[in-house]
Amino acid sequence: MALLDIIKLRTQFPSQDGMVKAVDTVDLLVAEGERLGLIGETGCGKTVLGMSIVRLLQPTTSIEGKINYKGRDILKLKEEDMRRLRGKEIAMILQNPTTSLNPVLKVGDQIAEAIRLHQGLGKREANARAIEMLQSVHLPDAAANANQYPHELSGGMRERVMIAMGLACNPEFIIADEPTKGLDIKTKMQIVELLREATLHKAMLMITHDLGVAGSICDKIAVMYAGELLEEASSQEILNDPAHPYTQGFINSLPSRGLLPIPGTSPSLICPPSGCRFHPRCRMATKTCEMKHPEMVQIEKGHLVRCHQFN
Ligand SMILES: Nc1ncnc2c1ncn2[C@@H]1O[C@H](COP(=O)(O)OP(=O)(O)O)[C@@H](O)[C@H]1O
Ligand SMILES: [Mg+2]
Repeated sequence: MALLDIIKLRTQFPSQDGMVKAVDTVDLLVAEGERLGLIGETGCGKTVLGMSIVRLLQPTTSIEGKINYKGRDILKLKEEDMRRLRGKEIAMILQNPTTSLNPVLKVGDQIAEAIRLHQGLGKREANARAIEMLQSVHLPDAAANANQYPHELSGGMRERVMIAMGLACNPEFIIADEPTKGLDIKTKMQIVELLREATLHKAMLMITHDLGVAGSICDKIAVMYAGELLEEASSQEILNDPAHPYTQGFINSLPSRGLLPIPGTSPSLICPPSGCRFHPRCRMATKTCEMKHPEMVQIEKGHLVRCHQFN
């Protein structure tokens, strides 16, 4: 059953030069208990998509479409109901622990505060639960670490604190935004393992520019480019049999596959290229790709691609 069913989502920001179309007509489904990876280059709209789901964007943002969570459209909820949903059911682990954690509060107090706010526990209970949470993310000495300030912790430990905070209210659906960014390989693998453990029997949307990380933990992967989804399939298929030239390029840019960068740069989201948005950088591009916007089509069961080769 679908836990999250996103239909034709468009998220745009007004700017001096026009609307920034950060998420442009995205359809996405996350089943109960499923882990979905959302990958793509920096600036393609991944974080904005995540923030649209939890409605944490500034009021001037235009959000259209539907985000059905357990059959209810999140975009229609009152702010008060949204706050409850955010605390109890959907947690977003934000992209940057250095800026998302309050530098002047001890990490234990920050987690306790979130627990008190959402679960109505007393101070002592909340503090005890915060230490439990820090233990559950395998901090070396949870009780002592709870008394430390964010700057006293390493990058990996800060990420663990972010995860503990996200999990503190026992959410059913977790959005993790670049949880392994900036970490060394060993710490990265530990964080992936921790998220795997923490999301057993839960659903997760993992946002990452790291295909290796997505492949090692997610059931499915959706590939985003310039605000749109270009391909979606099981992780195995994306890694072993990618159909879209962009996905193929993305895979060839992995260190393990030779670090071949995709030529060209990410397009403007105010005025994206005509036709297929990837055509200016695509080695397969034809006249049609320049003229006509390709539809997402199914090439095999559960494998969707937006490319004229298959239209
Ligand atoms: N608050 C905002 N106002 C205007 N533009 C924004 C805002 N947030 C993000 N953007 C723009 O939306 C696009 C997508 O950003 P983002 O979702 O952060 O990318 P990603 O997470 O894939 O790196 C970028 O071009 C970014 O500059
Ligand atoms: Mg981001």
